[in-house]
Amino acid sequence: RWLLGRTGDLAGRRVVVTAGGTREPVDPVRFLGNRSSGKMGFALAAEALARGAQVRLISAPTALTPPYGAEFVEVETTLQMLEAVRQAVATADVLVMNAAVADFRPAAPAPRKIKKEELRADEGARADAQAEAEEVLTLRLVRNPDILQELTHLSAAQTDTAAAARSAPAPLAEVSGSSPSRSSETPARPRRLIRVGFAAETHDVLSYARQKLAQKSLDLLVANDVTRPDSGFGSDTNKVYIFHADGGLEELPVMPKEEVAAAIWDRIVPLLGTN
Ligand code: CTP
Ligand code: CA
Repeated sequence: RWLLGRTGDLAGRRVVVTAGGTREPVDPVRFLGNRSSGKMGFALAAEALARGAQVRLISAPTALTPPYGAEFVEVETTLQMLEAVRQAVATADVLVMNAAVADFRPAAPAPRKIKKEELRADEGARADAQAEAEEVLTLRLVRNPDILQELTHLSAAQTDTAAAARSAPAPLAEVSGSSPSRSSETPARPRRLIRVGFAAETHDVLSYARQKLAQKSLDLLVANDVTRPDSGFGSDTNKVYIFHADGGLEELPVMPKEEVAAAIWDRIVPLLGTN
C-alpha cells in the first residue's frame, strides 16, 4: 500500500493528516456538523505524498476524492477520529490535525428518527399553557475529547517507551520510519511525534491561536480568520498565520490552499531533522 522508493524531503517519513468536519448523530438521519470542506487537509496530504511521505489521510466525510497513494481512512464522529488517529500515530513522525472536530456530541442520539409531531405532543403535555414552547426542541450535548490534547500524553508515553527500549538489550518492537531506506540505518530510535494544529477563528485570531499552541503543546499552529471571504471554509485560497513553538509568528499572504500546504510542510521538515 505504501509507495516505496520515493524521493523528496519527506521520503521515508510517515505522516498522518486529518481532514473534514466530524459529524455527530442526532438520530439515524441527522447529524451535527460544521462547514469544513476538507480542501486544506486533502491538499496537505497530496503535498506530503508529492514529497515522498507515506501518508495516512483520516477524514470525516467530504465531497473530495482522496489523493492517489494515500492510505485513506474515513470516519464520521470525533470518537471514531480519535481512535483512528491513536492507531495511526503509533508509527508516525508527524500528525497534522487539520480536521474541524466537533467539540460536543448529542448525549443520547435518538435510536429512531425524531418525529416533529411526537415531540410537539411531549412538550405540549409538559407546558400546555405555552404554545411557543411546543415549537422548541432541546438537544443535550456532551463534551468530546480533545484529540490533540489526548495525544500529548500518548506521545510522551511513547517517547518514554522508546527511551527505555534503547537502553535495554532487546530491540524496540515499534519502529517508526521503517521504510527500507531508513530502517537499515535506524533499527530503533526514540521518536517524538511532531504535532501541528489548526485554528479557525472568527475573532481575536492571534490571541486564541497563541493560547491553543501553548495549551496543546504543539510544534506549529496554523491560524486563519474564517470571516475573510478569501479564507477558510470552502474557499480555494487561504490566508494563514503560522505560530512556532519557540514563539515565532509568520504572516503568509493569501495563497491557493495547495501553496499553503507546501508552506506548512516547508516548516515541518526542519523539525524532523533531529528525529
Ligand atoms: N482539536 C482536536 N480535538 C478536538 C477539538 C479540536 O484535536 N476535540 C484540534 C483541531 O483539529 C485543531 C486544534 O485542535 O487542530 C484547534 O481546534 P479548535 O476547534 O480551533 O480549538 P478548540 O481547542 O476546540 O477551541 P474552540 O473551538 O473553543 O475555539
Ligand atoms: Ca473546537
